[in-house]
Amino acid sequence: MLVLGIETSCDETAAALVEGDGKVLAEVVLSQVAEHRPFGGIVPEIAARSHMAHLDSLIAQVMGDAGVAFKDLTAVAATAGPGLIGGVIVGVMTAKAIAVVHKIPFIAVNHLEGHALTAHFSNGVAFPYLLLLVSGGHCQLLAVEGVGRYRRLGTTIDDAAGEAFDKVAKMIGLGYPGGPALARAAEKGDPKRFPFPRPMKGKPGCDFSFSGLKTAVRMTVEDMGALSDIDVADVAASFQAAIVDAICDRVRRAVEIFPEGRTLVASGGVAANTALREGLTNTCTKAGFAFVAPPVALCTDNAVMIAWAGLARAQKGISDPLDFKPRPRWPLDPTAAPARGAGVKA
Ligand code: KG4
Ligand code: ZN
Repeated sequence: MLVLGIETSCDETAAALVEGDGKVLAEVVLSQVAEHRPFGGIVPEIAARSHMAHLDSLIAQVMGDAGVAFKDLTAVAATAGPGLIGGVIVGVMTAKAIAVVHKIPFIAVNHLEGHALTAHFSNGVAFPYLLLLVSGGHCQLLAVEGVGRYRRLGTTIDDAAGEAFDKVAKMIGLGYPGGPALARAAEKGDPKRFPFPRPMKGKPGCDFSFSGLKTAVRMTVEDMGALSDIDVADVAASFQAAIVDAICDRVRRAVEIFPEGRTLVASGGVAANTALREGLTNTCTKAGFAFVAPPVALCTDNAVMIAWAGLARAQKGISDPLDFKPRPRWPLDPTAAPARGAGVKA
């Protein structure tokens, strides 16, 4: 088997080729960060146009790198949601065109399924496992029970974790994307100087909320007026300590609800955060869970995970009709209660 994967749901344009045993033959990710930076956040229209400008040549590049032709493909898989709809349409239309011309199956992949299955392929983690997905667009805890079998244990009721990092970074004058910059500033700061709230801590269930924490940081920063470098470092460290603590509390709940998970997998851009990794390692040790974080390049958006999810579906004989509509929202677990609040994709 040979599956081409396409990812265009956010601000990375990506293509990858994987074989039947999961081996990655070629992959490429083109980040649009520089195009969005002047605006301090992702502009959906710019994202869609940039995907359109680059996707064809990235596909040609992976085909060339792997030395394969379209006639060698078993199937073509593309992220069909959830995400910024303009970009999703670009990827889905491109995949459908390849499927029609070369008479191969088209597979509509849920982007979240890509994140959910990554550790299974990259680190050989056996089902079932517990997944913490923390990125700029998502913040969820999922029970991953097998291919196509996901139970959402909790989700954010307002911002995603990465969004909270980015917004706080902006408040203290750090650039975009703010997460990595804030983490760097926090290294030199005092995490105890500001006792910021830990939203949802101790509450039943596994849902997340970050807006109260964000507001507390904003009020503190406004009260202080001009910030010295030490102030910036201390706010960053205190915010990071609070959000890590809040996330770990939700993970402790999830572990109680889903003890058969045995392994916690962390994915999404925020999973690159060192303080969070340390917090999760401690939480897992106490709970008797193993902790696995796939390589950062596979935690952030990429097409390898989409090709893997497509492969898993192709191996089960699953494909999708060519009139499959791209979906801006697409919960992985259709039985989960709809998420409340803004900025929630699923
Ligand atoms: O998964 P990702 O690359 O893209 C999507 O959102 O789908 O995640 C990007 C998010 C951004 O909000 C970024 O600020 C955050 O992940 N991030 C981090 C770190 N690296 C990336 N947040 C905290 N600490 C980091 N080291
Ligand atoms: Zn993602």
